Amino acid sequence: MSQQLSVKHLLGIKDLTKEDIELIFQTADNFKEVINRPIKKVPSLRDTTVANIFFENSTRTKLSFELAEKRLSADVVNFSASGSSVSKGETLIDTVNNILAMKVDMVVMRHPKPGAAVFLANHINASVINAGDGTHEHPTQALLDAFSIREKLGTVEGKKVVIVGDILHSRVALSNIFCLQKLGAEVMVCGPKTLIPKYMSDLGVKVEHDLIKALNWCDVANMLRIQLERQDIKYFPSLREYSMLYGLNRSILDGLTKEIVVMHPGPINRGVEITSDVADSKQSIILDQVENGVAVRMAVLYLLAQNSGFKQ
Ligand code: CP
Repeated sequence: MSQQLSVKHLLGIKDLTKEDIELIFQTADNFKEVINRPIKKVPSLRDTTVANIFFENSTRTKLSFELAEKRLSADVVNFSASGSSVSKGETLIDTVNNILAMKVDMVVMRHPKPGAAVFLANHINASVINAGDGTHEHPTQALLDAFSIREKLGTVEGKKVVIVGDILHSRVALSNIFCLQKLGAEVMVCGPKTLIPKYMSDLGVKVEHDLIKALNWCDVANMLRIQLERQDIKYFPSLREYSMLYGLNRSILDGLTKEIVVMHPGPINRGVEITSDVADSKQSIILDQVENGVAVRMAVLYLLAQNSGFKQ
C-alpha cells in the first residue's frame, strides 16, 4: 500500500481513493495506541502551525482537531468568526490571507457555505482540511464513523448501514455515503420523503421511509439530528410527529430481529431522533466515535503534512 495520500487537501471524501481511506485508518490505529499511553504526545508536527478557523458553531470537531494538533506537537491558533473582523465586512480570502501572513502551514475550516473549503484551497498555498462546509461534506466525521464501524464489527466491507433523518441538510450523510461505499458497505437512507433528496438513488443508495423496515435490514443505524437551523420552510408537521415516526427508542430496538450498532455524529437532540436509554446503551458507540475522532484527525493532519512539502 502507498504510504502517501493522493491529495494535498482534505476537501471531501469524494476526492479520496479506497487506498487513501485505508492508509488513514492504519495511521489512526497507530495514533490511537499513542493517545492511550501515559505520554500522549508525539513530535510529528513540531514546527508546523495549524489554524483552526470556524465560521460556524462546533463542539466536537473544533475540540477534536485542536487536541489532535496538540498531540502531534503542532503550534495551534484558533479563530472564530464571532468577535472577529468578519463582522466588519472582511472577506473570507482576506481573513485567511491575514492569518497565513503569520506563517501558517495548514488550515482547518468550518464554514456555512457549501464549496467554501474548495474555494479556499484554490486561493491559498496552505493545506486545507474541510471541517464541514454547509450541507456539502464533513469528511473527517465520515472517516471517524467508518473507523468506528471497523473497530466494532471488524470490517466495513459487506456491512449494511442505514442513515436515518434529515438527509437533505446533512453534510455528514453525504460524506458517510461516499466513505462507506468506497469501503464496500451497502448504504440505505431513511426518513420522511421531504428530507430525502431525489438524487439519492442515483448515488446507488437504497431509500426506505419505514423506520422499522430500515432497522431490520441494517447492521448499523446512524441517527442524524434534524437541522432546524438550515430549514427555511417546514418539512414535517412537528418535532413530536417526526419523533413518533423516526425516533429510535428502547422498545423499537428490543423488537428488532437482531442486535444492531447505534451511532450518532452529535450534537444529539435527546428525545427527538434518539432517546437517552438508547444513546447511553451498550449498543451505542457514540462516545467511541468521539474518542476515535482524535486519532483519525491526527492521521489526516500527519499524512497531509507529509504531502505538503513543509514536513519531510
Ligand atoms: N459532529 C459534529 O460535527 O459536531 P460539532 O458540530 O459539535 O463539531
